[in-house]
Amino acid sequence: MAEEKNEFGDGTTPPVKKDKDSIPKPSRSRSSRGRQSNRAKSDNHKLSRKVNSKALISVEANTTYIRNLKGKRPIVALTAYDSIMGSALSDANVDFILVGDSLGTTILGYETTVPVTMDDMLRHTAAVRRSKPKCLLVADLPFGEASMSFDRLLESSRRLMQEGGADAIKIEGGRDVADDIEKLVATGVPVLGHIGLLPQTVKAIGGYRKFGETREEAEAVYTDAITLEEAGCFAIIAEMLEENVATELSKQISPPLIGIGSGNGCDGQILVTTDLLGWSCGHVPKFVKPYLNMNKLVSEALGNYIEDVRSKKQ
Ligand code: KIV
Repeated sequence: MAEEKNEFGDGTTPPVKKDKDSIPKPSRSRSSRGRQSNRAKSDNHKLSRKVNSKALISVEANTTYIRNLKGKRPIVALTAYDSIMGSALSDANVDFILVGDSLGTTILGYETTVPVTMDDMLRHTAAVRRSKPKCLLVADLPFGEASMSFDRLLESSRRLMQEGGADAIKIEGGRDVADDIEKLVATGVPVLGHIGLLPQTVKAIGGYRKFGETREEAEAVYTDAITLEEAGCFAIIAEMLEENVATELSKQISPPLIGIGSGNGCDGQILVTTDLLGWSCGHVPKFVKPYLNMNKLVSEALGNYIEDVRSKKQ
């Protein structure tokens, strides 16, 4: 896809942080296309949260459902790597599940997602599929698979869908991969885009950091998003984007922008489930608010069991 010079390029790179007027707006022309006790009140509150999230929402396993949520209510997506996590997420009524290549750093013990292979992705996607989730199941395309040739990309996508049981695939990258995404979508492969911080490039860019804090970078992010929209992505993940840039961008594009570490102005949020649960032995990003401390709970339970066996209580 031809990259045209954008209309904001004035050679300077002033920070766009917190100054809404300086956030570049994307231009289509730049691209080719009764009284109760407190206890009772709090129980009722818990109940209504349950009713809201479980009974009233009927999740559908298709990309149209995800697209149509834009402007209606925030979309919630989470990662799963196995059947037990797949069932838990589906029971909790998540809007879609991603079998992310984050499985490399969260459960396989790698330092980055780069070593994750097609075999890893197929095994874990198939495991989540066996949990029969009622929502859309998206699988990540591992490092390198989108960069070799369109045939290789199509073959890897086919395998994730036919052998792994994925409904859709996710590809990291913007303009660089948009032409291939357009062809992939034309063959019937639903694609979830991913812009901003691309974890597969973390070694190349020298670590995890925010994106879009300079005008130049914000423009590049806009161009990536618009190109992916035109390529036919049903939704786009925006990882670690400067908050104002992400908020403005979600207003400007028609596919839902699903943020991770990009503030709450996006159309929805995605998070690595193990980070959310405090069940991790690796790096947990600062933006994650843990809802549980699984590390502590598990270590206490295991310690108690070991103690019971050693003292002959078991
Ligand atoms: O691999 C993954 O889990 C992801 C999310 C962080 C969006 O790409």
